[in-house]
Amino acid sequence: MQKIVSLCKRRGFIFQSSEIYGGLSNTWDYGPYGVELKNNVKAAWWKANVYECDDIFGMDASILMHPKVWEASGHVESFFDIYLDCLNCKKRIKVNDPALKKATNTCPYCGKSGLTDPRKFNLMFKTYQGPIEDEASLVYLRPETAQGMFVNFLNILDSKHPKLPFGLAQIGKAFRNEVTPGNFTFRTREFEQMEIEYFVKPQEADKKLEEWIESRFSWYLNLGIKKENLRKRPHTKDELAHYAKACTDIEYNFAFGWSELEGIANRTDFDLREHAKFSSKDLKYFDETTKEKFYPYIIEPSGGVDRSVLAFLVDAYHEEKVKDDIRVVLKLHKDLAPIKVAVLPLLKNRPEIVELAKRIAQDLKKCFITVYDDTAGIGKLYRRQDEVGTLYCVTVDVQSLEDKQVTVRDRDTMQQDRISIDKLREYLSKKLNTEG
Ligand code: GAP
Repeated sequence: MQKIVSLCKRRGFIFQSSEIYGGLSNTWDYGPYGVELKNNVKAAWWKANVYECDDIFGMDASILMHPKVWEASGHVESFFDIYLDCLNCKKRIKVNDPALKKATNTCPYCGKSGLTDPRKFNLMFKTYQGPIEDEASLVYLRPETAQGMFVNFLNILDSKHPKLPFGLAQIGKAFRNEVTPGNFTFRTREFEQMEIEYFVKPQEADKKLEEWIESRFSWYLNLGIKKENLRKRPHTKDELAHYAKACTDIEYNFAFGWSELEGIANRTDFDLREHAKFSSKDLKYFDETTKEKFYPYIIEPSGGVDRSVLAFLVDAYHEEKVKDDIRVVLKLHKDLAPIKVAVLPLLKNRPEIVELAKRIAQDLKKCFITVYDDTAGIGKLYRRQDEVGTLYCVTVDVQSLEDKQVTVRDRDTMQQDRISIDKLREYLSKKLNTEG
């Protein structure tokens, strides 16, 4: 993990937030490559779940919502963590920490006795809307994007007239005042979610849940995560959230242990019933064929953008021995790699070569995310591009001036092909658009 954190900083993927002021703990900023990778993850998710599905509609609800939303959802009442502090080492311990069960008055971190009484702590961030800071103006930063979709159920019925099953999909920020954040970007207080709320007939919910678990599992595999690093873990009855009848987590084998990337839950009709009760609106679905009115069940695949990005980074990280050197390379899937092509002049002191390389880069930029770099020798330039996962390096050399050809180096195999400049776009298109 330390290697990933260091590469992220060194190469401009992820920086500590407000670093020049000493940083704000557990908050992170995505740099030039990080934002591209994150956008590519989100685009791949949107493509698979919105563009390639006939029955899912995209949404972008606001972060601030009516406070009643969080009463109806159960978050005001029961979105708590219970924690203890160690009086000796000052570490904060969540009460569901398994290590604590073994010895209740012993700190699992320093092993000494002396823990505070359990304290309850609501995870929602509070703020005030408008100039007066009182109870009436209290609003919350949403702790999940899901509720923005439930409260728009009626708007979707009225505007799109969909038939069951259908879904809503949304990507956006969520905030939780976590008691024990950590493990780099894995658990933070500000993060992004990718959520689908899929409305189904109650009798079809179990089957649809299984279908969604398979579909979401395949999504990670299709984007290159190694099979041995991914698993499904069904929840036991006692760990289910208050709204869920069943839930399966997709977990990744991080250095700190198997950990949740996404949960796929059967939320039953809990949410629509609760919002109908609190809003006094009729949120039932009318089935035109059977003439029945009922609350649909909701299947919810809910994943974290930041956790996916971290898993893709960790999984793609490779160290390879090349001659007497170690090559660090990020073997990211082609759809996720921040940069597709880098154009590198072999000799930067030859203006004709530099000019030709810049012209080629400018041309390729129209089709692919391309960078031009002449700030070091070719060996160093290759190493830089490998470390950020650039798929192809195009090298322009002295011979290119004569034969109008360039060398294209493949990131993973390091194989080099000599390609005619006027065929370069076509060659790269084929590689980038068709090869898995
Ligand atoms: N709407 C259901 C829901 O929010 P969740 O399991 O609490 O379920 C869903 O969150 C996903 O959001 C998790 O699988 C994880 O990927 C991401 N997530 C939750 N809390 C997070 C945190 N503190 N930091 C980063 N990602 C988080």
